[in-house]
Amino acid sequence: MDGSNSKATGVAFIGCGYVADFYIATLPNHPDLSLRGVHDSDAERAKKFSEHHGLRPYASLDELLADDSVAIAVNLTNPHSHYEVSRRCLEAGKHVYSEKPFAEELGQATELVEYAERHGLILSSAPCSFLGETAQTLAHALAEGRIGQPRLVYAELDDGAVHQMNFRSWAGPSGAPWPYADEFRVGPTLEHAGYYLTWLTAFFGPASEVMSYGGLLQPDKTPEVEPSALAPDFTCALIRFHSGVVARLTCSTVAPEDHSLRIVGDDGVLSVSECWDYGAEVTVRTRTEMSESTPHYLSEPQQVPLVLPADHPFRYERHHGHDMDFARGIADLAAAIRGGTTPQLTARHALHVLEITLAVSSAQGAAHTVLHTTFDRT
Ligand SMILES: NC(=O)c1ccc[n+]([C@@H]2O[C@H](COP(=O)([O-])OP(=O)(O)OC[C@H]3O[C@@H](n4cnc5c(N)ncnc54)[C@H](O)[C@@H]3O)[C@@H](O)[C@H]2O)c1
Repeated sequence: MDGSNSKATGVAFIGCGYVADFYIATLPNHPDLSLRGVHDSDAERAKKFSEHHGLRPYASLDELLADDSVAIAVNLTNPHSHYEVSRRCLEAGKHVYSEKPFAEELGQATELVEYAERHGLILSSAPCSFLGETAQTLAHALAEGRIGQPRLVYAELDDGAVHQMNFRSWAGPSGAPWPYADEFRVGPTLEHAGYYLTWLTAFFGPASEVMSYGGLLQPDKTPEVEPSALAPDFTCALIRFHSGVVARLTCSTVAPEDHSLRIVGDDGVLSVSECWDYGAEVTVRTRTEMSESTPHYLSEPQQVPLVLPADHPFRYERHHGHDMDFARGIADLAAAIRGGTTPQLTARHALHVLEITLAVSSAQGAAHTVLHTTFDRT
């Protein structure tokens, strides 16, 4: 897995659970990354994972951090471990790519970002799907003015009633069970809002305020987790961007699966039906003059060919692993290290996304939050 590319950037995984298998599956998309080894605080899990994939297991985080061939520590631990693990990696002089949310509290996240900035290190966070073909095509279509001035967004992240599915039987190729208790405690908003929030903030710039409602609609999910420990399973937020765009974002594990997006502009509507597929189709409907023969004010949907900017270094290879190219964010960070530049997914952008996410996920009932963080669009 350390490849034949001698100039490849050394990376190590911390956390050998369910998502780590997705990262392994998509690493072949990025020959510029060389996986040096893995660590998990659960020694049994580390053993199973490293044996399954033929990888070097580090006996401890210290041993991993002492490996000078590792430039990027990839934090794939559970959300409650993200801050502590990332902090230790930064203190050891490693660049860090973290799964989302990169901290559970905004103060901790800010501390990580400032620490990295002070020490010339790069911190970057999942989700990286903005680097995918679908999101890049939307960005291009918006910049080209395909729908005129954007005004309104409907973004849905409904995952279906997970607690009514066979979630106890879900496991990855290396045998890691889907961590349902943790997922129910963390909740669908903290887990998933970042997928669309990263896109929307990249498209429309920073947001100024959030109005949200959050509730636990189905408290009897599983006997292993007390209802009092469960996160809201439904949130709905209205997000106002400084640019004037307003977005409605829904996250739930109550309504049937719907990961669609509609961006409404003065001259048309851009749509995507699935944000968890880097190659999902983008369609556009454009404004038409109504007449007797054209009784609608919008055209029939037309496919927008997926395009990537000429200087975009990543290409989609669906046969490599997964509909989501999880390792692409690490490759973005590695390219920034090699080029002495900033990654496309910056820490300040991730911090802003996290502030919005926390404003939505922490709402118990109705809440209004004025946002304080901001970021420069790359
Ligand atoms: N499960 C998914 O489908 C999925 C998809 C995308 C992203 N994610 C994100 O990936 C992250 C991990 O999720 P997962 O599903 O793989 O969870 P998981 O529970 O299956 O795996 C996490 C692993 O991290 C290890 N760990 C926890 N604290 C540690 C520490 N301090 N040091 C070393 N190892 C530690 C655990 O022992 C466990 O094996 C989460 O942030 C989650 O939001 C999960």
